[in-house]
This record gives sequence, C-alpha cells and structure tokens, in this order.
Amino acid sequence: MTDAPHIPVLLDEVVAALAPAPGEVMVDATFGAGGYTRAILKTGATVIAFDRDPDAIREGRAAGIEGLTLVHSDFSAMEAAIDAPVDGLAMDIGVSSMQLDQAERGFSFQSDGPLDMRMAQDGPSAADFLNTADEDAIADVLYQYGDEPKSRRVARAIVAARPLTRTGELAAVVRKALGHRPHDKKDPATRTFQAIRIHVNRELGELADGLAAAERLLKPGGRLAVVTFHSLEDRMVKRFLRERSGNTPGGSRHLPQAGATRAPSFATVGRGIRAGEAELARNPRARSATLRTAIRTAAPAWNEEVTA
Ligand SMILES: C[S@@+](CC[C@H](N)C(=O)[O-])C[C@H]1O[C@@H](n2cnc3c(N)ncnc32)[C@H](O)[C@@H]1O
Repeated sequence: MTDAPHIPVLLDEVVAALAPAPGEVMVDATFGAGGYTRAILKTGATVIAFDRDPDAIREGRAAGIEGLTLVHSDFSAMEAAIDAPVDGLAMDIGVSSMQLDQAERGFSFQSDGPLDMRMAQDGPSAADFLNTADEDAIADVLYQYGDEPKSRRVARAIVAARPLTRTGELAAVVRKALGHRPHDKKDPATRTFQAIRIHVNRELGELADGLAAAERLLKPGGRLAVVTFHSLEDRMVKRFLRERSGNTPGGSRHLPQAGATRAPSFATVGRGIRAGEAELARNPRARSATLRTAIRTAAPAWNEEVTA
C-alpha cells in the first residue's frame, strides 16, 4: 500500500446522488481505495464493487469490508457478475492516487519507472505501443486524447528515440521536443502521458461500454453517478444522458430519426457538478472532475451504441 491514500473526489455529492437506503444494492464500478464503497456501506446498503487493477482488489479484500462483494473485472464486463437489477451505480473514471504515485506503475512523468501505465497490469503496455506503432498512429493518440497541439513533432521525436523503456526517458524526449523550461508552470509531458494512458487502457471504450451496461443494470428509479476527469469523457457522459433523457433539441446526428421518439431511459438531474473551493484546497486532483447524475426511468434500455 502506498503512503499517499486516495482521497475520494466529490464524495458527498456522489453519495447524495446515489441516495442509498438500507437493504438496497449499489454498484461501485471503480473501487480504487474504496472511498465511495465505504461511504455507501455506512447507509446500510450493500455494495458490489469492481476494479480492473489486481492491487486494488487485493487491498480491498485484505481490508475484510462487511457487506461488500469485490470483483476483479473491467466495468465493461460487470454485467456478468450482477444477476438482478440494482438501485444505484457509480463510476469514478481514471487513475487512483495509488496508481499515479507508484513510480513502478509507470503513470508518472515526475518519477522514473518502467513505461507501463496499465491499470489492469495486463495486455500491451505503454512501451509496447510506443515502440511498435507508426508515427501517425502515435500522433493521432497524442492529438485526440491529449489535445497536444504539436502531436506530430512529439511523435517524430518518440520514434527517433526508440526503443523507450522508462517514463523518465519519455518525459525527457517530450520536453526536448517541445522546448521545456524548468520554471514552466505545466510540464509539457503532461498531455503526452495523459493521452498514452487513455489509449493503453482503452478508457473511452470502457466508459461507453460502462454507460450502456448501467442503462441495462439499473432498475426503474435507480440512480447513476459518473465522475470524469477529462473533457472527452465528460462530453460522452453528457451526450449519453442528453440522448437517453430525450433532451436533444433538433435530434442527434448519431441516432436514426426514430431515436428522437423513443421513450427516455433516464431523467437527468441538473447540470455537471464541480468540486468547490473547500474540496480543491484539500484535494487539488479534484480540479478537473465533473459529476453527472441521472435517474433510470421504467422505459426499456435503448441498447444503442454510445459515442464519444
Ligand atoms: C479514481 S479511482 C476510484 C477511486 C474510488 N472512487 C475511491 O473512492 O477510492 C479509479 C479506479 O477505477 C479503476 N478503473 C478505472 N477504469 C476501470 C475500468 N474500466 N474497469 C474497472 N476498473 C477501472 C482503476 O483501476 C482505479 O482503481
């Protein structure tokens, strides 16, 4: 276990949105350090929680938390472990502090470690991707997921420096390509690391699959709470909830015309919620978080593809 525990983001707001009651069944799709799970269990509800990271599962099981069923799985596959509709479902997308702070997990450009970045500790790593993909594919990832305006220049520098095996090497290559001055406010490697992490972990695909699963898993009146940390993710959640709540003036370019007349499967509850000053003072990592919430209606799931 790391000595820097994960501070749950927007915890009070998430629990308020889920409104768990004694005897209800709640899903925590991203267990992490169990911050949401523990708060939900205090209300007398039970929790089925998921995490793709074996470390999170091992530490959660070692804690012996009563009322918790902990499943090692991507949340895109959570339906297989849930056999009856549930009363609430939370997703807290992204990396935990434990993942970010442990150099050997390879997420950080601030401390040197193996170029890994896999939450699940399985499948192709960041090094596998960067050392084999062609320059265009790398540039596309940096541009799409990292908003890196000089994506082609960075991709060229990465390809020229291959093979890369350490986060420190990658950070140095990016800084050199972009002309980093040590007193710059934001390290220019930030965008590249974020983009590669999103790609390696298929984060947008997971979110799309997770939202579609939530629509099928929640019972009528069931509550959904999704916290995202990136504008692409927030856009996906916002669009999903707008469409599913029939709140798309002029219709959606992603849906056939019939979609506009389909019965809404969700009712949305207000706008995105951001962390307040008090939380930001305690936990700067909450700065980019947005919470969106909704309530499942009795209408059938649309079973439509969820798009970015
Ligand atoms: C931001 S942390 C969650 C923190 C948690 N809410 C808490 O209060 O401790 C995100 C966690 O979700 C896990 N995760 C991210 N994407 C996942 C996915 N697609 N399937 C399962 N777990 C995922 C990560 O491994 C990480 O442990």
